[in-house]
Amino acid sequence: MELACTADTVLRPLAPDDAAALLAVVEADRETFDRWLRWSAPVQSVAAAREFIYAAAAREVEDTGFHWGIWRGEALLGGVPCWSIDPVHHVAELGYWLAATARGGGLAVTATKVAIAHLLRDRGVNRIEFQCRVENEPSRRVAERVGATYEGIRRESHWVGGAFRDHAVYALLARDA
Ligand SMILES: CC(C)(COP(=O)(O)OP(=O)(O)OC[C@H]1O[C@@H](n2cnc3c(N)ncnc32)[C@H](O)[C@@H]1OP(=O)(O)O)[C@@H](O)C(=O)NCCC(=O)NCCS
Repeated sequence: MELACTADTVLRPLAPDDAAALLAVVEADRETFDRWLRWSAPVQSVAAAREFIYAAAAREVEDTGFHWGIWRGEALLGGVPCWSIDPVHHVAELGYWLAATARGGGLAVTATKVAIAHLLRDRGVNRIEFQCRVENEPSRRVAERVGATYEGIRRESHWVGGAFRDHAVYALLARDA
């Protein structure tokens, strides 16, 4: 599966062979990733990156999520993880991340919009949630730019950077899109 993103980037699921590329992106800006993301801290080796990718592939097989890479040719620029798709309530949760060198150009917004369209159109999702650490202004701006509505704070919802962190919840409904 491959979806067009921008004129020179595509989205396709991370595969086990992408583990070294994923690790390299995380290592290049680990301080930022580990401050904001709930998944990067354990990704300390190619084997750990592969395990992380396997977990996403399992979600894809079960139809409960995915983790797309954002690719320019062979270069991994970022990703759009879908952490869950609830088939009963038709609720999904999306995230996004960019390599340090890929930030500031609108790529996260564009890639997330492609994932939103896919979830609403192809997966029958009605509600898409985003959770950002409350202090993560760039992430909150992306949630707002894709059209999600701020709903409140989930207190100490995730263990990130060695502590339980409050997360701002944003959500977009099918009828908002
Ligand atoms: C969160 C994160 C993905 C946001 O990255 P980003 O570069 O700000 O997001 P985008 O690529 O969508 O770019 C948005 C910026 O590009 C600008 N932009 C938008 N469209 C543009 C375009 N077509 N051309 C040029 N610039 C554009 C916007 O003005 C915005 O800039 P501003 O927010 O400084 O005003 C990034 O900071 C990151 O990866 N952080 C670490 C991981 C993380 O925190 N993930 C979120 C976890 S909840």
